[in-house]
Amino acid sequence: MTAQEIRRKYLEFFESKGHTIIPSDSLIPQNDPTTLFTTAGMHPLVPYIMGENHPGGKRVANVQKCIRTTDIEEVGDTTHHTFFEMLGNWSFGDYFKKEAIEWSWEFLTSDQWLGLDKKRIAVSVFAGDEDAPFDKEAFDVWKNLGISEERIAKLPKKQNWWGPAGQTGPCGPDTEIFYWVGNPDKVPKSFNDDHDNWVEIWNNVFMQFEKSKEGKYVPLKQKNVDTGMGFERIVAVMCGMSDNYETELFMNLIKKIESLSRKSYGNLENHTRSMRIIADHIKAAVFIVGDDKGIAPSNTDQGYVVRRLIRRAILHGKKMGIEEQNWTSLLAQVAINDYKNIYEELERNEKFILSAIEDEENKFIKTLEKGLRELDRIAVEVSLDDKEFAEKKIAMLQRGIILRKLTGKSIFDLRTVYGFPHEMVEEVAQERELVIPQREWDEANRLFEDHQKLSRTASAGKFKGGLADAGEETRKLHTAAHLMLAALRKVLGDHVSQKGSNITAERLRFDFAHGEKLTDEQKEQVENLVNNAIEKNFPITVTEMSVDEAKEKGAVGVFDSKYDEKVKVYHIGDGDETFSYEICGGPHVTNTKELGKFRIKKEQSSGAGVRRIKAVLVEES
Ligand code: ALA
Repeated sequence: MTAQEIRRKYLEFFESKGHTIIPSDSLIPQNDPTTLFTTAGMHPLVPYIMGENHPGGKRVANVQKCIRTTDIEEVGDTTHHTFFEMLGNWSFGDYFKKEAIEWSWEFLTSDQWLGLDKKRIAVSVFAGDEDAPFDKEAFDVWKNLGISEERIAKLPKKQNWWGPAGQTGPCGPDTEIFYWVGNPDKVPKSFNDDHDNWVEIWNNVFMQFEKSKEGKYVPLKQKNVDTGMGFERIVAVMCGMSDNYETELFMNLIKKIESLSRKSYGNLENHTRSMRIIADHIKAAVFIVGDDKGIAPSNTDQGYVVRRLIRRAILHGKKMGIEEQNWTSLLAQVAINDYKNIYEELERNEKFILSAIEDEENKFIKTLEKGLRELDRIAVEVSLDDKEFAEKKIAMLQRGIILRKLTGKSIFDLRTVYGFPHEMVEEVAQERELVIPQREWDEANRLFEDHQKLSRTASAGKFKGGLADAGEETRKLHTAAHLMLAALRKVLGDHVSQKGSNITAERLRFDFAHGEKLTDEQKEQVENLVNNAIEKNFPITVTEMSVDEAKEKGAVGVFDSKYDEKVKVYHIGDGDETFSYEICGGPHVTNTKELGKFRIKKEQSSGAGVRRIKAVLVEES
């Protein structure tokens, strides 16, 4: 079965069970200050799990693009990835445990669908603790399907609980499905979740609680199902492989890396690991840069992640002796070709992806070269008092060479300013006959830890708040963003369209197409228009309609729905006046009177032809 057949079968199966098929959302979450990327299929669907109506109804299914950077240390093994696709089906207060589990079983094992061997399947369910009871309901459904008790593990929260995605929000017990990828004649009778041959392929989460700010698990009024099947893993299982990188989803990338490095995959353990990391990171970079909300490498937020992915790939390439120039963009081209039929945005944004990756490679190579020159400059002479190296120093002097060392501070600078990881510092020092005393390493590590502590504190501040505590403040600022876009169009003209937005509980940041800096007068006009609209106590109402209908009625927004899906259109105004009419997923407040006073804090450039406004809402005085 090909990968595309598996995607198609999954959607077909859930369509036959009454689900609406929805497109993958962007990799960059909208209006969610707590995370940089869409990390699971449920992520963009939180408002519906919390009770909002989804335009597709109470049952939806999709294949979602995801990025997870939390597992980055594991990337390099056979089953973890930075970019992956997740097959998911959802019930928003409709079916629950029995149907969800029975359908998972049917899809996996029925010959009409995947036809996997029932004897190689094991599952786990939530064991229960002080927050929530043992999931007997899930346990019984599995037992009734014929799974023996030894193959149903009861595990604690650490394993069998999912969510919330942020600090607070929907969560619940889950049941995970594992497949034995070892010798089919030697499937153990009982299940042991530590064994590498039991690979988790699917997770069914029963979102029936909400974690509150106080850390309590409060039952949700609506019981939901959130499932996620790791696509790369199921494709490997269906091909009878235990290494995801040997499937069609990675093989072209691996082949290209083999030819660039003139090494064979699977030959030496450390080369194989480097090849996987390169393939994984370049693919992830392609998808992040190629997203319609595309991100170029930079020093902040998502851009920084892309930068690190590309640079890490380049360092692994160096390790394997890849010398060709611009090899990362050659690999990017392979990833684009592999996926552009499924994800059309990669084709649309192909030029941008290739040039962004090529630029980054050139920049990094220059930085590395600078670092090497710097290294020659900053090495200091080893003193004869230094017992550890005195003998070596004398021996070198006899050859007419002065022995030099790297200091902790210079190792730290090489690492943070020039991007040299530990092993690379070691390697180049050796090449240049420089020594590094242990205490200098210790000093470098101490500096580095302090530095990390600082940047962690900074980013914790930045991402504080919770996604599903998509609290009142976020909601208000989101409504204010609609008012502001409408006001900008009135003041500057209809060419103004939204290019991006990011909302936290404290402020809104909004990017829009416009060629020039706004004058003070224009900013004041925009503020006044928004504040007048707020004072008119306009209700906010929402209607669902087809994209064509929304277009016809003059709604603004992105018209990129792929599957004849209905969209929500938010109206701000009253019987006499439509102030704003915009396609949007929500959430919003119900009346503008809740907003307070609107203030523009900053207006600046955000790239060619794009302006950025930061604005806040303040209490009315
Ligand atoms: N949200 C669940 C997961 O990502 C399905 O595993």
